[in-house]
Amino acid sequence: MALEDSRERYGAVSRLLHWVTALLVTPQLVSTYMNSWQPGNAFSQVFQPWHATIGFGILGLLMLRVVWLLVQLSNRPPHQGKAVLIGHVSIYLLLLATPLSGILQGYGIRLFDRLVSKGIDTPFTDISQALHGPLAYILTVLVLGHIFMVLLHHGVHQDGTLNRMVGQAKS
Ligand code: HEM
Ligand code: HEM
Repeated sequence: MALEDSRERYGAVSRLLHWVTALLVTPQLVSTYMNSWQPGNAFSQVFQPWHATIGFGILGLLMLRVVWLLVQLSNRPPHQGKAVLIGHVSIYLLLLATPLSGILQGYGIRLFDRLVSKGIDTPFTDISQALHGPLAYILTVLVLGHIFMVLLHHGVHQDGTLNRMVGQAKS
């Protein structure tokens, strides 16, 4: 598997960044929602103490991803229409805005079980507290829509969309 992207498929670097992000975003959302549904459940207890650490990880991966996207810009699979492009750009923006609003809420921040900030007030504290939850909900809806569309393309249209991100690409 080539490291770089091509017009037919995503390369190993893009795939790694995509799937590690998905692996972090999924428990981040699921554990938080499950915690409000059934406070103290075992799954949430494992992941909730890592909420800020995972959030920082998602933010770091997003930055790497954007750099790699810019390097590969003319060398990756074309978007299948404007709606897909808008959908992907929206997910990128939410992967930036959600962790940023989490950080700027002004609460204490624990990274790898160490308190790295006791919390600071900034001019963005109130707006971040108001927006962090709603941004995460919008991200959830977009990711669910994204997965639904990928599976629809794979199962119904059978146009090889999923194979751009996993396995062999159709050429
Ligand atoms: C993409 C990354 C992140 C996602 C998807 C995410 C998701 C969520 C969700 C769904 C909630 C529950 C909101 C509610 O019930 O209204 C929440 C709460 C919270 N998050 Fe995050 N978060 C992320 C990153 C971060 C980061 C980086 C921090 C801090 C460094 C953080 C700090 C908090 C705090 C303190 C709460 C509880 C207060 C509140 O409800 O607003 N989050 N997060
Ligand atoms: C859970 C969090 C996920 C996030 C945040 C996410 C995000 C993204 C983003 C932003 C892109 C656009 C890549 C680009 O062109 O730069 C993308 C592409 C893609 N994703 Fe995901 N994804 C997630 C989960 C999944 C899952 C579970 C699947 C499979 C069922 C999947 C399959 C794909 C495929 C096949 C593409 C390429 C689509 C195309 O070429 O048009 N993603 N994803």
